[in-house]
Amino acid sequence: MNKKVAELLNAQVNKEFFSAYLYLGISKYYAKQDLPGFASWYKVQAEEEQEHAMKIYDYLLDQDEDVTLDKIAAVKVDFKDALEAAKEADKHEHYITGEINKIMDAAVEDKDYRTQLFLNWFISEQDEEERNSKEVVAKIELLGTEKKNLYLLDKEMGSRKG
Ligand code: FEO
Repeated sequence: MNKKVAELLNAQVNKEFFSAYLYLGISKYYAKQDLPGFASWYKVQAEEEQEHAMKIYDYLLDQDEDVTLDKIAAVKVDFKDALEAAKEADKHEHYITGEINKIMDAAVEDKDYRTQLFLNWFISEQDEEERNSKEVVAKIELLGTEKKNLYLLDKEMGSRKG
């Protein structure tokens, strides 16, 4: 594997674990706001991010590449309101899409067809993740951030299993 592609994939392992950490911070915020459904939704999301990190980790090892495990940066665990927390997640998903695209660009440039095939899964996953995070923001914007308004949405958020 080309050095640049391997380095970008290695960095992405860290970014996916950072995403898990970020979502755990958001989950913690909602738990403290007595919104267990929201807390559960973001906890499920945090688990998914760990799976994303492990997919890349396994791929690197399968390709006989080395894996670096850098320090995971601290995350925000408090927000102004439910909307700010949901917007943080939405903004982050757009950032991650950009990072996945950069790896794809490097793989295309290197004619690394195997990595392109591997990354296709992440390209469609990002489409879904962006749609989900945007939907949460839109629903909170519609209902407003008062706790009584978020109560019904909290029940719906809590139904997410995976
Ligand atoms: Fe692994 Fe939410 O991107």
